[in-house]
Amino acid sequence: MLAQEFIRRKRDGKALAPADIAEFIGGLTSGSVSEGQAAAFAMAVFLRGMSRDEAVALTEAMRDSGTVLDWKDLDRPVVDKHSTGGVGDNVSLMLAPMLAALGCAVPMISGRGLGHTGGTLDKLDSIPGYVSQPGLDLFRKVVREAGCAVIGQTADLAPADKRLYAIRDVTGTVESVPLITASILSKKLAAGLGQLVLDVKTGTGAFMATPEAARELTESLVAVANGAGLKTSALITDMNEPLASAAGNAVEVINALDYLTGAKRDPRLHEVTIALGAELLRLAGLAGSEAEGRAMLEQVLSSGKAAEHFQAMASGLGGPKDLLAKFRSHLPKAPVIRPVMASEEGVVTLIDARALGLAVIELGGGRRVASDRIDHAVGLTELAGKTASVGRDRPLALIHARDEASFARAAAMVRGAYRLGEAPPVSSPVLTRIGA
Ligand code: URA
Repeated sequence: MLAQEFIRRKRDGKALAPADIAEFIGGLTSGSVSEGQAAAFAMAVFLRGMSRDEAVALTEAMRDSGTVLDWKDLDRPVVDKHSTGGVGDNVSLMLAPMLAALGCAVPMISGRGLGHTGGTLDKLDSIPGYVSQPGLDLFRKVVREAGCAVIGQTADLAPADKRLYAIRDVTGTVESVPLITASILSKKLAAGLGQLVLDVKTGTGAFMATPEAARELTESLVAVANGAGLKTSALITDMNEPLASAAGNAVEVINALDYLTGAKRDPRLHEVTIALGAELLRLAGLAGSEAEGRAMLEQVLSSGKAAEHFQAMASGLGGPKDLLAKFRSHLPKAPVIRPVMASEEGVVTLIDARALGLAVIELGGGRRVASDRIDHAVGLTELAGKTASVGRDRPLALIHARDEASFARAAAMVRGAYRLGEAPPVSSPVLTRIGA
């Protein structure tokens, strides 16, 4: 079918046949579909939506636009988790080695920061020597030997998504449930997974700010993933405050290594990490119940096995051999580290997590435009959570800044992100579970 006829069908609200979707995505990958045609298609989908069958066909066509990995040589469940993005969400850094320590293979394709949210890939890039975009051979070797490898999308995996995503980014067509669904899942399917758990965030620091929007995306993701043959379930989790007490790049890696080595575990972060891990172990058939999965995860934390798998992954991908023992000296440190105080005493009632993400960008820890270089050392730590009492003895956060001027700008943004008053009710970090 001619590309313009295909676009007209969607524009007029008619159903698209799977074979036509596959042909159009083939053209997107080869370049025979122009940028203008891809943008018109994205806008037609944005406005008209897609049926579940169309979304499954789109996801499968995007998966098949590049290499689809196969892990048949590994006699282990091949699993992954994916978060829709938030602030202080470093769960992947801990959960991948925890699952590896329990006998899973975790080939995790992660992304860079998007908007106000942090990206796992940017965080890992703060480890000296870590190759976050290796060739497929090294990726396979590290997954085989360390049990997990967290890397970025390579040119081989779902290239149609790479092209369409870049076009959506500049044509006002990002926030479309079927397009987000196909984008996320095509990469996960290309990674050759057997089971997937999704962490859909909702709240002030999430893309899907309302519970209704989060539920709509979750139901689409779970239905399309299972429709495409990937056993998937999802948790909707609270992002009305940063998940970890740190937000940035090196500071979140330090927070993750403190977690794995047992030096410090933020309670909300721990709950989400364990809940997602237990769900995956249940899906993969390694745990008979959620309770059993939780106990298994706690065990690989207390034995130090999960931390050893992180070390094996990091050194397998070029990072320091003694990272675990000396991570504070290996990771970059900002020259200015000072507290930001609240302007009055009180209890934290509301946190604009998005504004805290923007403060990290203001410090240089995120991008304003795609070509920006990230300052891995900067960020926020010791973030006060909801119900914390702040005042003369307890700051809102510690700011890690490159210089005094950026410290002052970030301090004003952090103060503006907090509201103080009477103690609020705090919602559970894990709100609901949807899926298989
Ligand atoms: N993450 C993705 O990979 N794709 C989207 O469309 C949105 C978030």
